[in-house]
Amino acid sequence: MGDIPIYKDLSFYPNSDKAKTRFDHIFGKFKQSFGDYEFIARAPGRVNLIGDHIDCSYFSSLPMAIETDVVAVANLTSDLSVNLINLDSKYEPTSFQLPENNEILTIDKSIFSWANYVKCGFLVAQKYLKENHPELSDFKGVNVVFDGTVPTGGGLSSSAAISVCSALLFLRSQGLKEITKKDLTAITVVSEHYLGVNTGGMDQCASIYGEFGKALLVHYKPNLYGELFSFPKIQPHDMVLLISNTLVEANKFETAPINYNLRVVEFAVASEILAKRCDLTLVQDSNLNTGTLKGFVDNYCEQKLGWDHWDGHNIEQGIKLLNKGLELVETLFTDEEKDGLTTEQAAKALDLSVDQFTERFLQKFHVRYEKLKLYKRSKHVFYDSLNVFKVLKLLSAPSDDFLTDLGSIMNDSQQTSIENIENSTNEINDVCKIALANGSYGSRVTGAGWGGSVVHVTTADKIEGLYDALKTQYYQKKFPNITQDELEAALVITQPSAGASLVEL
Ligand code: GLA
Repeated sequence: MGDIPIYKDLSFYPNSDKAKTRFDHIFGKFKQSFGDYEFIARAPGRVNLIGDHIDCSYFSSLPMAIETDVVAVANLTSDLSVNLINLDSKYEPTSFQLPENNEILTIDKSIFSWANYVKCGFLVAQKYLKENHPELSDFKGVNVVFDGTVPTGGGLSSSAAISVCSALLFLRSQGLKEITKKDLTAITVVSEHYLGVNTGGMDQCASIYGEFGKALLVHYKPNLYGELFSFPKIQPHDMVLLISNTLVEANKFETAPINYNLRVVEFAVASEILAKRCDLTLVQDSNLNTGTLKGFVDNYCEQKLGWDHWDGHNIEQGIKLLNKGLELVETLFTDEEKDGLTTEQAAKALDLSVDQFTERFLQKFHVRYEKLKLYKRSKHVFYDSLNVFKVLKLLSAPSDDFLTDLGSIMNDSQQTSIENIENSTNEINDVCKIALANGSYGSRVTGAGWGGSVVHVTTADKIEGLYDALKTQYYQKKFPNITQDELEAALVITQPSAGASLVEL
């Protein structure tokens, strides 16, 4: 249960015949280039139903692994060379050397290459082996063929899929036969940090803990893991999840200084200012070694209001606490500050000089901004975390109007994306609008945003109408030359799917 599964056939894919054709193709390419394969690893992408940009503040989100994945097939080389082929011709074959003397790989993140995602997976695997299995730390090079079906920049965690898959493959190729989901998650959550993106952990956790037919509630503190849960059976028509990729690439890496990483800085600074204004000292356990918004509201409720400690599970208590968070954000930031704070203003609010502020918040990951929008960002974190708990409440006692209720929470979530986290785009908004007018109960941007995909909830009887509306009113209008294959890849009916695994065929 707790170990990464090792599958002996391809029946974990909903369509195993299609999977067999795909794997035969990968094996054929591998044979041509490198001979006989020895190891196979795979890791899926994810879709997040609700709760985005909250993992860095350690609030739970509700993702699931999806069917599209990255498969890697490998054998050992006789030296330290690593030779990589990607079956997507967009990505050139490439090679590098593992460092001598079993040193850990280093990554030059200023040179962008798809191989960086492989390297960051290998790097965290090397560290794990050195610390936990020194007997397996005489590192050997590998030949690898990758095949990915998670669209790049589609907001479905293609980067987590390739880095988790690479870490798992490297571990197996160096002789590790078993690894727990917990350990693989713990080592891979930081993998993209080596590329300069301060990601939170939801993607890797979903890719690793996913199971067929089950969504996940990801817990971050005190332990990072995915708790499995099922959707209720909806009558008379089954619930259907549709993902539509806007085909506007979300490049988390390139835009990190003004988008993703900046949000993480804003959450950190907001938590410290809110805590200071309430005379609270926070545990410094964020990715930037600062306090978090969860740490702030937990502390406030316990120390100032005398509430019981919230273990992250009790739904009613979570809802009460998150509502308190929202209330505090409204009162603790002044009206003037609601438009944002300059570096000088934020430093002053913390009794720091600008240099001290820079050293504390702006050193680890480079960011650019005029004003830190602390009010909006913290409002989003509490609001979307509250949305997660509202969905959990709904799941615990599904109403007769389950889909209408779920949809309206998803639509609220989309609204806070637009207004507070500011990660939606015109295309995402258009897609949501078309979908809601044509059979979707709820539609929202999924993942980091700034491009990428929208997740919709509908029912089996409405899916055709929804599909057609998006096809004609968005895709064929915006991309008049779109092919049938491209359309099929962009508009995907999905279901919760199997998480990362080794395969032995
Ligand atoms: C990206 C990050 C995740 C998470 C989402 C937004 O996918 O990798 O850690 O923050 O954005 O929810």
